[in-house]
Amino acid sequence: MDKFLIEGGRRLEGTVRISGAKNSALPAMAAALLTSEPLHLKNIPRVRDIITMGRLLAHVDARVVTPDVPPTDLTIEAERISGAEAPYELVRTMRASILLLGPLLGRLGYARVSLPGGCAIGARPIDLHLRALEKMGAEISTEHGYVAARTPGNRRLRGGHVVFEKITVTGTENVMMAAALAEGETLIENAAREPEVIDLAELLRKMGAQIEGVGTATLRIRGVSSLRGATHAIIPDRIETGTFLVAGAITGGELELAGCAPQHLAAVIDKLGETDVEIRCEGADRLRVRGTGKLVAADITTEEYPGFATDMQAQYMALATQARGASLIAETIFENRFLHASEMVRMGANIAVEGHQAIVRGPTPLGGTGVIASDLRASASLVLAGLVARGETIVDRVYHIDRGYERIEEKLAAVGARIQRVK
Ligand code: UD1
Repeated sequence: MDKFLIEGGRRLEGTVRISGAKNSALPAMAAALLTSEPLHLKNIPRVRDIITMGRLLAHVDARVVTPDVPPTDLTIEAERISGAEAPYELVRTMRASILLLGPLLGRLGYARVSLPGGCAIGARPIDLHLRALEKMGAEISTEHGYVAARTPGNRRLRGGHVVFEKITVTGTENVMMAAALAEGETLIENAAREPEVIDLAELLRKMGAQIEGVGTATLRIRGVSSLRGATHAIIPDRIETGTFLVAGAITGGELELAGCAPQHLAAVIDKLGETDVEIRCEGADRLRVRGTGKLVAADITTEEYPGFATDMQAQYMALATQARGASLIAETIFENRFLHASEMVRMGANIAVEGHQAIVRGPTPLGGTGVIASDLRASASLVLAGLVARGETIVDRVYHIDRGYERIEEKLAAVGARIQRVK
């Protein structure tokens, strides 16, 4: 298993190029199953989850063509699909595998997807996905750890009225994809409004889907009988962008982030501003962050978009350990997403966790030690803590970080961090 060795205390300076959004690329790849024509995707991040999604698509006999490995451009051709199954070996490493359910059901009228099970950051059920697809005529059963879904007689799904009792990102995406090929109109209320959901809607429109209300909580989708191929560039990764904003801020450095989408980061930029970090928007796709060396505490509450993203909570906690005063961090999206706190405490942070809230008192000097990454964003936060810790931090199980960050150690090293990957 790979580890990162980080020698903390270096100020970061230079330019970082932001990759495509993993959480946008995954549903876009799944959408390729909705058409027999080739789908060309650009700006695909070179991360492990993309490889897993490629394997899932290959498992149902879609052709995934990459000019390089791992890919930045992908062509996916699902002329014929067979099997319609997402097996446990692949699903267990990536919860987003559930994104195959909607497209397979929409195209074939049946699908069999392994249940994702629990994960480190909470139970994360898929009940909302299933109930919504039932509203569209699917008959769903769970057997031997798999969800089996089919329409009576393997006919097309029919449009339905879906009201999500809780906002779900991949749930909204799954229903949107299924509804694109359903018979009649589907109305989705309380839909997710994340930029990645909008990106998927735009891709589906290019493929011929009829979707209204994109970017709002109410989506109206008129099903069509077939979709066509398309070419689409994935939006920049707002969580990678936010992570590098914190990297610049926490080290008192100055970073330019190129190829990002500042408009997707309003909540994060506002909050970092409150902590006295300077962030300037330099054109449509460029941000500059300057750490002033004097951070002040500020509270956050994670929320659905456009609120402060739960996927930025752990990184923000690393920053809060270096801010003067008490920062209250409230996690409202996932029930068990403070696993990084105990590792930061081992590095010297003062963090008290109670239920879904954490109070971070700072600034506290951090000292390098061995820490274990428990999930994707938690690992990123430990790398950030390592960048300011005295001495050497060893971050174990970096396979979590490789799931969603493209060569993070190379990007950090290029702007002055002392970080290396060891086997
Ligand atoms: C997506 C993102 C993930 C992000 C999360 C919240 C992808 C691939 N992943 O995950 O990075 O952290 O949104 O912004 O895009 N829930 C249920 N039943 C369901 C579905 C969800 O109770 O059927 C709950 C979840 O447990 C959670 C909340 O709803 O508490 C939101 O989850 P959801 O938006 O579905 O997260 P994902 O789509 O899995």
